[in-house]
Amino acid sequence: MNSIDPNATLLLAQRLDLRGKSVTKEFDLDLAQWHGLLELSAALKAEKYARAETKRLSDLNIALVFGKTSTRTRCAFEVAAHDQGAHVTYLDPTGSQLGKKESVMDTGRVLGRMFDGIEYRGSSQSSVEELATSSGVPVWNGLSDQWHPTQSLCDMLTMIEHADKPADQISFAYCGDARNNVANSLMVAGAMMGMDVRMVGPSSLKAPDSVVNPSMTIAEQTGAKILQTDDIATGVAGVDFVYTDVWVSMGEPESVWDERIALLGDYQINRELLGATGRPDVKFMHCLPAFHDRNTEVGERLFQRTGRDCLEVTNDVFESEYSIVFDQAENRLHTIKALLVAGLGC
Ligand code: CP
Ligand code: NVA
Repeated sequence: MNSIDPNATLLLAQRLDLRGKSVTKEFDLDLAQWHGLLELSAALKAEKYARAETKRLSDLNIALVFGKTSTRTRCAFEVAAHDQGAHVTYLDPTGSQLGKKESVMDTGRVLGRMFDGIEYRGSSQSSVEELATSSGVPVWNGLSDQWHPTQSLCDMLTMIEHADKPADQISFAYCGDARNNVANSLMVAGAMMGMDVRMVGPSSLKAPDSVVNPSMTIAEQTGAKILQTDDIATGVAGVDFVYTDVWVSMGEPESVWDERIALLGDYQINRELLGATGRPDVKFMHCLPAFHDRNTEVGERLFQRTGRDCLEVTNDVFESEYSIVFDQAENRLHTIKALLVAGLGC
């Protein structure tokens, strides 16, 4: 854990040069800003653990606009803001005029007159970017159809904390729907870290060139390796971390479940797949929420239909000593706090 030095933390936040800037995807940040945010996250986490937080966002107002449901992202923004002295206003998926009676652009122009910063979770990346342009205040993407940058920042902090080696020697395999928002963000984030990145899934669910090509360009700079494969054994061999996400993301129709289960069943994270890593110390990660049992409406419904009592991860892996998913969930708080402090606080 870092030592507490509020002045050093302030200087670090100032050096990032993110004040007033939006973060709608990883590409909005240069390498120094990305690494600096991780350093700032660790410093803020140490302050919180020591119960010695300096409030750097006193009396600021932050809007949390959710066009889709959330537990972690919403709570992380709320607690981070409160910890730092800011106020939040939460607009839920049905609780504002946005989308039905008012455009994203008009909503941005209104919110920008009242708030110092805005978190936005919406169905399209273009909406997040439009909100950033129209509001004139920093907008943080809390998940879109294409990117989940606050998640990947958290995931990199979590990997650093759990790997006993420099970040650029870390390897991870993401198994499953390798072209969803979390997978896209992980590929870019892994490239920025110089990691050994394996995206493992069926070829019909590979990331598009618009994600892969710029990631490859970053990898040339950082020394990262990026592999896309449908072969599980090759993909997971020797990795430090195995990561998965849901097989059907928010906003996708219920009707795609059967097709996804057929496509992704072999990529489920289970004991056999962990064994294929050859790493007795491998760690399991998931952005959550996860379908690892029948204790959810969707999980139970899918069980009734398919007879499967878990989907992307088995319950025994989820609950095992390999699983670091709740450390990961906690890190949403510290990393989102770093974004707020860097964007508004110095
Ligand atoms: N991982 C994540 O974004 O969780 P929520 O959907 O609960 O915010
Ligand atoms: N890919 C998932 C991530 C949830 C945090 C979704 O978009 O539903």
